[in-house]
Amino acid sequence: MPATTERNFADKKTMSIKKRSWAEPFKIKMVELLKMTTPAQRRKAIREAGYNTFLLKSEDVYIDLLTDSGTSAMSDRQWAGLMMGDEAYAGSKNFYTLEKAVQKYYGYKYLIPTHQGRGAENLLSQSLIKKGDIVPGNMYFTTTRLHQELAGGTFVDVIIDEAHDSQSLHPFKGNIDINKLDAVVKKHGAVKIPYICVAVTVNMAGGQPVSMENLKLLREYTSKHGIKIMLDMTRIAENAFFIQQREAGYSHKSVAEIVREICDLTDGATFSGKKDALVNIGGFLAVNDFETFEEASNLVVVYEGLHTYGGLAGRDMEAMAIGIAESVHDEHMKARIGQVQYLGEKLQEAGIPIVLPIGGHGIFIDAKRFLPHLTQDQFPAQALAAELYIDSGVRTMERGIVSAGRNAQTGDHYYPKLELVRLTMPRRVYTQAHMDVIAESVANVYKNRKKITGLKMVYEPRYLRFFQAQFEKL
Ligand code: F0G
Repeated sequence: MPATTERNFADKKTMSIKKRSWAEPFKIKMVELLKMTTPAQRRKAIREAGYNTFLLKSEDVYIDLLTDSGTSAMSDRQWAGLMMGDEAYAGSKNFYTLEKAVQKYYGYKYLIPTHQGRGAENLLSQSLIKKGDIVPGNMYFTTTRLHQELAGGTFVDVIIDEAHDSQSLHPFKGNIDINKLDAVVKKHGAVKIPYICVAVTVNMAGGQPVSMENLKLLREYTSKHGIKIMLDMTRIAENAFFIQQREAGYSHKSVAEIVREICDLTDGATFSGKKDALVNIGGFLAVNDFETFEEASNLVVVYEGLHTYGGLAGRDMEAMAIGIAESVHDEHMKARIGQVQYLGEKLQEAGIPIVLPIGGHGIFIDAKRFLPHLTQDQFPAQALAAELYIDSGVRTMERGIVSAGRNAQTGDHYYPKLELVRLTMPRRVYTQAHMDVIAESVANVYKNRKKITGLKMVYEPRYLRFFQAQFEKL
């Protein structure tokens, strides 16, 4: 376990940041009114949604913790940026602004905008993966793995074991296990491995970061074997903040400096601008080598749009460029992660089993320990997310057996060790009072947990089933 900086820690057990009271580095200029619902209305709504929170109408939701993706509040500057949209089909001004931002903050040479992260995953997978290839990664992400598979590759998990243990307090549970990677290289040969996909932070492990030390070791190893490192840098600023707080030698560096240092250790990245970069839509693929760029910029015109807009309006590219700059401000990141931590600590005080250390983009409730009377094929996390909605109108989502899907060869469910309900925090959207309401609701459901029954799946889509599957109560 890498050394951590003593100075920054109040509590070694929880990895929480020592702090005085803090507040957000912004004030509110406009509000969005919410509809309040009754428990009877919510019971009806979730039944009609097949007990899948993705199928609820957002209007029927009070506090929406479904995702941190595309749900952030843009700043006044970003909204002003929308008015600067140059909606030319080719060569829009905003493309060049975005390209400059990507080069400045991330250091990558070539940029291909895409409509969102998975568009970039498609281009990268189609450009680099050949049938029969192996793509190691630090835990799967749903869309990333699917694009690798659709391109003919097979994903292999090489994350450290601690990542699969919701109670391990390892400060960098996103780390790659170099021994596991080495075993994959020995078994298949480096020629079968077009790249290793490294997510910073690791969403499915609970928003857990990768250390700089681990990335440096990985760079050394992959350089020796001629393997590319492709980042999924969807939440890179959050990862950088954790490095600043936890890793020896980084407490004096800014989030912006650490972000750049991470990118400099890699060959390229896919990016969903809908998270860190504080926009409602957008993403990109960025690479350093011309051949990959050339192939992907040829494919982008098939799947997304011309290579200078890739499925985005000019105004979207402008807002993303501004959001990238805002995302690496230390004060922003402190408030962002601080809010997640505030909620996590409240839940811990109430005795709720959550993934520790508290991650970057949300709180992940351990549904196996919350509902030990349910077996995993009774979909405990799915059932718990439905109950939370009924209790208070708080919308969360399943990250367990439903999200994991089925093995394409055998057709069996994957049974992931982690069966989680994710309370994902939009950026700059909710207040501390909202956090208190959420914590009280989870505590109330916990008090009545023995009454919660499992679910059976009555409709299952072929791809990414968690989005559209439907259930009935057992
Ligand atoms: N990679 C990671 C780590 C993600 O979390 C996501 C999206 C993507 C890639 C794909 O990006 O949505 O822009 O196409 N995660 C969202 C979530 C959907 O709720 O976790 P996208």
